[in-house]
Amino acid sequence: MKKARISHISLICLVLISLIFVSCQSQAPEQAQTIKGFKAFDAKAKEILSQMTLDEKIGQMTQPEQDKVLGNEGDMQKYFIGSVLSGGDSDPIKDNSLIEWTNLYDRVQEEALKTRLKIPALYGIDAVHGHSNVLGAVMFPHNIALGCTRDPELVERIGRITAKEMRATGIHWTFAPAVTVPQDIRWGRTYEGFSEDPEIVKTLGKAMVMGLQGTDLSDPLSVVACAKHYAGDGGTEATKAPRPGFPGGDVTRMWLDQGDTKVDEATLRRIHLPGYVTAIEAGVGTIMPSYSTWNGERCSGSKRLLTEILKEELGFDGFLISDYNAIRQINPMNLKESIMISINAGMDMAMEPGGYREFFDILKALVEEGSVPIARIDDAVTRILRVKLAMGLMDDTKTHKADRSLHNAFGSPEHRAVAREAVRKSLVLLKNDNKVLPLSKTSARIHVAGKSADNIGNQCGGWTIRWQGQTGEVTPGGTTVLSAVKAAVSNETEVTHSIDGTGAEGAALGIAVVGELPYAEGVGDREDLSLDEGDVATINNMKKAGIPVVVIVISGRPMIVNDILPQADALVAAFLPGTEGQGITDVLFGDFSPTGKLSYSWPRSNAELPMNINMPTEKYNPLFPIGYGLSY
Ligand code: BGC
Repeated sequence: MKKARISHISLICLVLISLIFVSCQSQAPEQAQTIKGFKAFDAKAKEILSQMTLDEKIGQMTQPEQDKVLGNEGDMQKYFIGSVLSGGDSDPIKDNSLIEWTNLYDRVQEEALKTRLKIPALYGIDAVHGHSNVLGAVMFPHNIALGCTRDPELVERIGRITAKEMRATGIHWTFAPAVTVPQDIRWGRTYEGFSEDPEIVKTLGKAMVMGLQGTDLSDPLSVVACAKHYAGDGGTEATKAPRPGFPGGDVTRMWLDQGDTKVDEATLRRIHLPGYVTAIEAGVGTIMPSYSTWNGERCSGSKRLLTEILKEELGFDGFLISDYNAIRQINPMNLKESIMISINAGMDMAMEPGGYREFFDILKALVEEGSVPIARIDDAVTRILRVKLAMGLMDDTKTHKADRSLHNAFGSPEHRAVAREAVRKSLVLLKNDNKVLPLSKTSARIHVAGKSADNIGNQCGGWTIRWQGQTGEVTPGGTTVLSAVKAAVSNETEVTHSIDGTGAEGAALGIAVVGELPYAEGVGDREDLSLDEGDVATINNMKKAGIPVVVIVISGRPMIVNDILPQADALVAAFLPGTEGQGITDVLFGDFSPTGKLSYSWPRSNAELPMNINMPTEKYNPLFPIGYGLSY
């Protein structure tokens, strides 16, 4: 009896505590709801629409790449261009400095304001882990690492800072966050996803949207977000064939990127849709349909996905932007048919980097011959104008120039401190024999080795300055692991370094930093996820010196580590941490205990792949399961 009483009381306490917890938790979503529904701008949007010619409407729906359209003088006005993008390698002519990007933004806006209705342009870019095309920007960890933090409040702050650094250049639209739910880590875009688990994706994706967009899109420190790639981009099946025209596509090899996701609608909804539901809840302004197909049908041309599910059922009132040349893939032999199918399916704006003139002319002809109803065009343009109005972009009293006073805070120590916090919270400690970690700051000598020990480019991965990223000194202003170790230890400690791990004899301890070189998209599709021979040799060389070795893996996904696991006294997964290497030493030297938990399952062998928590439990046999992570 007494026992039952106590459990009643504790039950009541538990309920009270959970209520307090839930009410604290729900503050964030309430904030998001202060973003005005996009439909609130319809009256104004309709008024503008009523003044527009067909050409002007189609111009709003056309998004060329900035260098292509600016290279053809007069085209911004001739085609009434409503938006431009900078794809992975579409940079300012001179260099990637903050000043050149800002000048480029101002130039685009100047050109847009020369059109008859003076509608400012939307400028879109892949600021996918910070304002990652600009030299000196803070490069945050990629989403795979943020997934290991399980920390929406931190992710929201990262979104705020990314928005602020973007606004320093004027650019106000990022093709992020990816709310992809990768099911096969051999996919080259695995690191763009927060997790293989939709529960984690839906929480962190929403937090990122809230951070980027803030509570009000017209806030000069907010940018428009873009949830991508809708839907099922992370569920594609592996195929083996050459892919002419793709980087590395001349030979027969495995592809997952842009493939086919063969699942029924219930599975699509359960695994791949939750991230969109919460992004829409947070007021996301744009969504990018995927290159991939769902049971053989191109997402970019699927009326079921774009109109019925996304707009009608989920109530998405922003606009859809196609992926880079994606509309052309619907029927590669017939561009006119592709455009007709996509726009009629519900696509609102077309990312047509170089073929924008063709797109414009064909869509106009399709409307004139009645194959695309004018009502569909009006709906698309209304949606685009809604977003522009919500951003305050159409406000005549505002200057359309970038706010250069924000340059002061660009790449600032305050912004770097948040990235450093994200790095230390994302590290996952996988092995720690004999409590080799945390390390002492006063040992006589530490030997640091491995191809990624002193390599900011490898830390940052793909989508950093260049589309594919770049090994080596890709951007100024960050800290490599080697320099972070030097900064962390006492004055008496000697830090030695070799790439291949030789020369470690006599050191108290070795740190080997190994993993993958940068890549993006299908270029990173890989059948064999073993560490390369150089990495294995580095670790073996260190071990031969008879010292404890701490291995840090810097990679876009879990790697096969069987070859080195016995040699590693400690093993840390850092994924792609970005520019702030000191987040790693914060944990190595014990200033912070590791708290990161794996956001993907870590396999034992290549033969086991694909493997994820959504597969039948009897087949799930990882080396470290999702959620795994040790502490001190
Ligand atoms: C990618 C998108 C990206 C776009 C613009 C495409 O290749 O699939 O994720 O937003 O390029 O750079």
